[in-house]
Amino acid sequence: MTTLPGAELFPITARVNAEHHLEIGGLDVVDLASEHGTPLYLFDSATIRAMCRAFRGAFGDLYSKVHVSYSSKAFANPALARILEEEDIGMDVVSGGELAVARAVRFPPKHLNFHGNNKSPADLAEAVDYAIGRITVDSFHELKTLNEIAGARGKKQRILLRVSPSIDAHTHRLTTTGILDTKFGFSIETGAAEEAVKVALGLPNLALVGLHFHLGSPLFELEPYEEAIQYVMAFAAKMRERHGLKLEEFSPGGGFAAGYVADRLPPAVPEYARTIVTALEAACDAHSFDEPLLIIEPGRAIVARAGVAVYAVGAIKDIPGVRKYVSVNGGMGDNIRPAIYGSKYSAFCANRIGEPHDDLVTIAGWYCESGDVLARDVKIPVVKPGDILAMPASGAYQIPMSSNYNMARRPPILLVGEGKAKLIRRRETYEDLLATSKV
Ligand SMILES: Cc1ncc(COP(=O)(O)O)c(C=O)c1O
Repeated sequence: MTTLPGAELFPITARVNAEHHLEIGGLDVVDLASEHGTPLYLFDSATIRAMCRAFRGAFGDLYSKVHVSYSSKAFANPALARILEEEDIGMDVVSGGELAVARAVRFPPKHLNFHGNNKSPADLAEAVDYAIGRITVDSFHELKTLNEIAGARGKKQRILLRVSPSIDAHTHRLTTTGILDTKFGFSIETGAAEEAVKVALGLPNLALVGLHFHLGSPLFELEPYEEAIQYVMAFAAKMRERHGLKLEEFSPGGGFAAGYVADRLPPAVPEYARTIVTALEAACDAHSFDEPLLIIEPGRAIVARAGVAVYAVGAIKDIPGVRKYVSVNGGMGDNIRPAIYGSKYSAFCANRIGEPHDDLVTIAGWYCESGDVLARDVKIPVVKPGDILAMPASGAYQIPMSSNYNMARRPPILLVGEGKAKLIRRRETYEDLLATSKV
């Protein structure tokens, strides 16, 4: 059997089939492209489930009280929410829209957590009405608003406080969130976090059950988790002494990396687990805490590898000695990450997957922007119009950040597995695009 190039980036079911085509979930990707058109997104259910189990297993093997809460901003869809529920994984939401996805499948409210630096009163009210398990509060304004909303309903809402530990996790400037200069959370360094603990404990309709931080994404380094856990747990001990804080729950957030290119693969899930659990247990020992419920919030790591973007090659422009542009029929409308974060991707030719990938090209989208480049300087076979390109690791932060720029219709999504494909989102139509406008 031909070996699959980039196998470590593709879904776990990916292989080269007898036609020398890329196969995922038991289905020929080239056939799927001709049946459903391109661009097309595939999500492999076996990979999603394997990642859910990897997180539950790796953390659960080391620590008895673990709750894995998938961060649905990475990709929110009712079919995915169903899988998460079946895998006993909770969900983080950051908007009424993401909450609506959870509600659409009657996701158990006690396994939901609401994040965000400026949640609207309407969103908070919906969350409280749905009896959401936790809200991670991010500001003094939210403490006051949420206390009023819960009080008006005669409820006591469980909350965590998001603190910011002033730790740089060495990710992209736009995706680092644990530093002092961030819009997220109460700073420990400035004293805001202590004030927030004091205020929250004094509010009658809120039950402060723990602390949360999130350092950024994706984090290829382990040390920042360790450093932040030590720092935040020392803060928790001080808050217990000074204000009577009870630490029932503790969350070091998400940020677990995924492999986009073969020369930069993430630490394995058990390595993250070992680092986080060791640091937490050591801090519990040092400060005489009973072990709190450990909440981890992987987003990208659950879905990135499961997703594959499938495009058709169109125009090819070769500038001798400079660059060869291979344009595809997708781009920044379905994947904005290269344009905003300089994210790197790999590409493979699905209909000639067994051929040497040795032609150096730049894969451009069709959108009217020079910055609409999906992958710079990647090697694929010498392609021609109509060839099918597959970009692995496309499952996270692509579809949720997609847009209708240039009045593009967003692509369909297929959930694939065991030789079957289920359309979990159809391609948008021009009617969809015009539905909210008036002459
Ligand atoms: C609070 C919080 N938790 C979890 C995540 C998920 O991060 P990742 O997808 O890198 O795991 C994010 C992402 O921004 C976040 O803001």
